[in-house]
Amino acid sequence: MSETIAISAQKHQTEAIFKELIPQLKQLVLNETNPTAVMATLAAALHGVFQDHWLGFYLVDKTRNELVVGPFQGPLACLRIPFGKGVCGTAWKENRTIVVEDVDTFEGHIACSSLSKSEIVVPIRNASGEVLGVLDVDSIHIGHFNQIHAAYLEEICAWLGTTYLS
Ligand code: SME
Repeated sequence: MSETIAISAQKHQTEAIFKELIPQLKQLVLNETNPTAVMATLAAALHGVFQDHWLGFYLVDKTRNELVVGPFQGPLACLRIPFGKGVCGTAWKENRTIVVEDVDTFEGHIACSSLSKSEIVVPIRNASGEVLGVLDVDSIHIGHFNQIHAAYLEEICAWLGTTYLS
C-alpha cells in the first residue's frame, strides 16, 4: 500500500517537472534553427534536470541503414546501431516508444554501459510520420521509466521532429 502511494507520488512529481520544463525548453531554443544546437541544448537541459545515467539522440543515417549517435550527455556510447538492433534500432524499426523495465530481459539489448539497468527509447518523426531518429534515456535503476516519462518525452520528440528536423 505505502509502496503504491510512493510510486504514485513519484509519478505526480515527474509530471509536474515535465509540465514546468517543456515551456522552458521551447523558450531556450526559440530563435534557433540549427538541429544540432537544439538537440545538444535539449540533451543538456533534460540531463541536468533528471540526472539520468545517459541521455541522448541517435539519428537515422539512410546511407548505411543505421542510427548514428548525436548530441548526448553521459559516458561514451556506441556510435552506430543497425536498423532493428537493440532497443534503439527496434524502436526505429517498429516506429514506437519502448520502455524497458530491466535491460537484461530485452533480447538483443545493446549494453553501452554495464551500469544501465532500464531505459526508454522514443522515436522522433517528421510531419509525415517517418522516423528521423530516437531519444534514448538510460537509468542505473531497474524500472525507472513509466508511462508519464513516455507521454512527455513523446511530446518533446514530436515537437523536435516537426519543428527542427523535418
Ligand atoms: N541500449 C541501447 C544502446 C544505446 S546506449 O544505451 C546509449 C540499445 O539497446 O539500443
